[in-house]
Amino acid sequence: MMLQTSVVWLLALCAMALGCPHIVSRSQWGARVPKNKVHLKTPVPYVIVHYSAGSCCFTPASCSWLVRIIQRYHMDNWLLADIAYNFLIGEDGRIYEGRGWRTRGAHAENWNNKSLGISFLGNFSKIGPRRAALNAAKRLIQCAVSRNFLSRKYILKGLRNVKLTRCPGNALHGVIKWWPRFKA
Ligand SMILES: *[C@@H]1O[C@H](CO)[C@@H](O)[C@H](O)[C@H]1NC(C)=O
Ligand SMILES: *[C@@H]1O[C@H](CO)[C@@H](O)[C@H](O)[C@H]1NC(C)=O
Repeated sequence: MMLQTSVVWLLALCAMALGCPHIVSRSQWGARVPKNKVHLKTPVPYVIVHYSAGSCCFTPASCSWLVRIIQRYHMDNWLLADIAYNFLIGEDGRIYEGRGWRTRGAHAENWNNKSLGISFLGNFSKIGPRRAALNAAKRLIQCAVSRNFLSRKYILKGLRNVKLTRCPGNALHGVIKWWPRFKA
């Protein structure tokens, strides 16, 4: 009985570990304090994939630096309250916390209050993200479902499916269109 209970407990822990990847927190990448926050009502029905369109990064230090640059650009040039996306993913295979699970993003007009915006760091017109980055995004999406931030029947889209834009790049779009629950 005792053994059975601990096995069940261990399995539960494993499932949690499998479902939810490590996320580099805002304090770890050196985020600025947001100017304001609007609560995101969850679970949301959509995930929207973006690219950041600039350079790629391959190490925790350079990705943290890049995320800080993007946050500064969004806050100082676009006058957003914070970095636009809910999460960002580097070519280092790590996930960087943007606005996170519970704050409405500013990444896709008319969709922000019903979606999580995930942005791959780089320009993925010609070549898609590395496998580690793609796997990180898939695990983040599974984690969102398992923690009920994302509806079980969610729909995955690229930004270009809801707005006239090249984002998330031809190569990346060519990858995600084969992922589960994608709908243009
Ligand atoms: C992304 O890369 C493509 C092809 O290399 C280039 O034409 C485009 O200008 C780049 N976009 C940005 C925003 O850097
Ligand atoms: C999202 O915002 C629009 C108006 O901007 C509103 O019509 C819609 O009901 C909102 N949806 C949710 C899920 O809050």
